[in-house]
Amino acid sequence: MLRDLFGTKNRVTFPVSGTGSAGMEAAVCNVIEPGDKAIICINGVFGTRMADVADRYGAEVILVEVPWGQPIDPADVKKALDANPDATLVGIVHAETSTGVLQPMEEIGAACQSHGALLLLDCVTSLGGVPVEVDKWGVEIAYSGTQKCLSCPPGLAPLTMSERALGKMRERKDKVKSWYFDVSMIEKYWGSDRSYHHTGPITMNYAIREALRLVFEEGLKNRFARHALACKALQAGIEALGLSMFAQEGARTPTLNTVAIGGNIDDAEVRKALLHDFDIEIGGGLGPVAGKAWRIGLMGHGAQQANVTYLISALEVIFKKLGYTDRVGDASAAATRVYAEAIA
Ligand SMILES: Cc1ncc(COP(=O)(O)O)c(C=O)c1O
Repeated sequence: MLRDLFGTKNRVTFPVSGTGSAGMEAAVCNVIEPGDKAIICINGVFGTRMADVADRYGAEVILVEVPWGQPIDPADVKKALDANPDATLVGIVHAETSTGVLQPMEEIGAACQSHGALLLLDCVTSLGGVPVEVDKWGVEIAYSGTQKCLSCPPGLAPLTMSERALGKMRERKDKVKSWYFDVSMIEKYWGSDRSYHHTGPITMNYAIREALRLVFEEGLKNRFARHALACKALQAGIEALGLSMFAQEGARTPTLNTVAIGGNIDDAEVRKALLHDFDIEIGGGLGPVAGKAWRIGLMGHGAQQANVTYLISALEVIFKKLGYTDRVGDASAAATRVYAEAIA
């Protein structure tokens, strides 16, 4: 089921024991040897974390950066590859949870393949919410987490590695620096050898199996459409409230919606009222985006009409209470209309 979800035929596809960050470490540490050049793309918190992880495992890190809220320009990746033809890895985040940007992936894989660099993709906030096409995009290593669009408890990190990526791991001169995440050992545990490596978190493995079963019971097409519709309804409500989205148009992930906090709106007051009066928690901005954007997750089971319209109506009431608007009802109607139109 993980192979189908990742869009891959990769034999080595399994859930790493640990959260999404464990997936990130496992993805990086198996293919990076000290001194390897790694091009890491940064447009938010998690690209920054990936660069830190690559640095800790001894990579010479080359950064491709754009302002937070924008996608990475594939031309910038190509430029970095041309300037560093010996780079062995390009790392990029598919859905940047700190900004709500969904990275277009079509061109980057081809550039990496023509340069012989491995493409590593963080799918923590995309897998199960939007299409992920590992094989089609030329991605050699990808990882995710269970607690986002799979609606499973946190604790496993689905990982997939191509034969090329495994080849890089097998040709290493030294051992993988992490014992726990050494895929050359873990693959024997998951493989027919069944040789003990570490104790599998079996409750989590049952949980992910059930979560994936629900994903395929719904069907990927239906699931992605449900996420897209929830996002569209949320956006209609947000805009009817007089606010605008933060992430660049055309590059927004429906799973994590960022709203620009405009004018006289008090970020903390609104989030506090949402939590205390309505039991709704939305995320504040991270890093340079702190105080400038809200982050609204519509992931997995959460991406549904009841949540969208409840949030929008709560915001209308809070905005009225805080004196930001006199009109109540328009935004809820705008969000509801999107759902009504989807039926017609
Ligand atoms: C894009 C992305 N990558 C990596 C991580 C790290 O995952 P975890 O917090 O499960 O360790 C997160 C967590 O939010 C994320 O959003």
